[in-house]
Amino acid sequence: MTTAQSASAATATALPKNILVVGSGGREHALVKAILASPSAPRVLAAPGNAGIAAEAACHPVAADDIPGLVALAQRERVDFVVVGPEVPLALGLVDALAAVNIPAYGPRADGARLEASKIHTKEILQKYKIPTAPAAAFDDPAAAIAYLRARPAPIVVKADGLAAGKGVVVAATRAEAEAAVHKLLPAGPSKIENRKSKILIEDCLSGEETSLLVIVSGRDYYTLPTSQDHKRVGDGDTGPNTGGMGTYSPADIVTPALLARIDRDIVRPSVNAIADEGIDFRGTLFIGIMLTPGGPQVLEYNTRFGDPETQVVLPRLDTDLLALLWAAARGSLPAAAAVRIRPEHALCVVIASQGYPEKFPKNIPLRLPAALPPGVHIHHAGTARDAAGRLVTAGGRVLGVTALAPTLREAADRAYAACEQITCETKYYRRDIGARALNRAG
Ligand code: AMP
Ligand code: GLY
Repeated sequence: MTTAQSASAATATALPKNILVVGSGGREHALVKAILASPSAPRVLAAPGNAGIAAEAACHPVAADDIPGLVALAQRERVDFVVVGPEVPLALGLVDALAAVNIPAYGPRADGARLEASKIHTKEILQKYKIPTAPAAAFDDPAAAIAYLRARPAPIVVKADGLAAGKGVVVAATRAEAEAAVHKLLPAGPSKIENRKSKILIEDCLSGEETSLLVIVSGRDYYTLPTSQDHKRVGDGDTGPNTGGMGTYSPADIVTPALLARIDRDIVRPSVNAIADEGIDFRGTLFIGIMLTPGGPQVLEYNTRFGDPETQVVLPRLDTDLLALLWAAARGSLPAAAAVRIRPEHALCVVIASQGYPEKFPKNIPLRLPAALPPGVHIHHAGTARDAAGRLVTAGGRVLGVTALAPTLREAADRAYAACEQITCETKYYRRDIGARALNRAG
């Protein structure tokens, strides 16, 4: 055995055996599937999970924001590694609480999660380290916010400072719309508790195509996963309100190797260094939302977790043990990028939502999935549950993600949409144009 082989054998034998995945969405279903595929054959549990995850891993009814409950579950089940899906438990300090009882986890501590939990904090870091981003100003006083707005051109973007599940951002076409957003997000009147005052960020509007970069970070080391593009608006042709994401594809063809190298130089490396320079020991996913403007790539936001539904298209393209990668990042020993293999296939995910999402929608609507799926198609469950009679029903706004992997993006789209048609649900709604921009470019 060479030294390299014995080193990798040693790492393989040292992988954790009992893994807890926290969360209940399509992202977590994709994480569970990828971790279960590890050659180390781990036992995987989820909290709280959903009806699809339950078919593959034991689900425990502990909510993703119940920090003491999750720590107790991890201890009771002798979990030796926790992979945290959503942002809320990260911001609430789940990783800190697990560390206090010596349970390692993948995901940043609360100080790192603030990069997602406060858009104002992130904007300050972007400005301090001169990372390209739109000019912006922060406000807690509606009168000052309106005065600022009146001096800026429309369209303009108004953002709630805190976590809002993708729904706290208003891209206002007119000043009147922007003023209405200010009044909604920043109610007038004195606040009794000063530090609970709501805050907003008003940001110049950028135009271009967006791309999502998922970067596995371990201190100053990082590995950038394959590119993807989300579709944030609820309606075809990018119309209607913003959502958590209605569909994705990977790779994002618009990000050429030369553009990716520029993004790495101007955005990813400086971001990872800035976070470390701020004294944050970040071990988890830094998800950088990027607008590809005519003047160059600009940061729209940081998230501190895997994207949903980006994960559903990125992980199936990974031809490397995800568990080993996440474990190495959490331990501070990321392998060289060359050790990670990516499949050449294209992946495309269509989100099946409940009609009415992202506003009001019904739940508990029966759902029937096809008995056999086209080749290369996976269904990731998101808002699904079993009713008292054991029937599969809807339980959320985003219900399923239908992901296809195929040699071309066109084939991936055809297969995913063929599977979408075979799903029966009275309230099913999905966009018909996922991947359209890239498909049109491909001709
Ligand atoms: P964020 O949560 O900050 O990424 O915002 C959610 C979505 O709003 C982004 O994915 C964009 O589609 C849009 N958005 C945010 N900021 C801007 C901006 N400065 N210019 C144009 N669109 C934006
Ligand atoms: N799909 C965007 C997000 O996960 O925030």
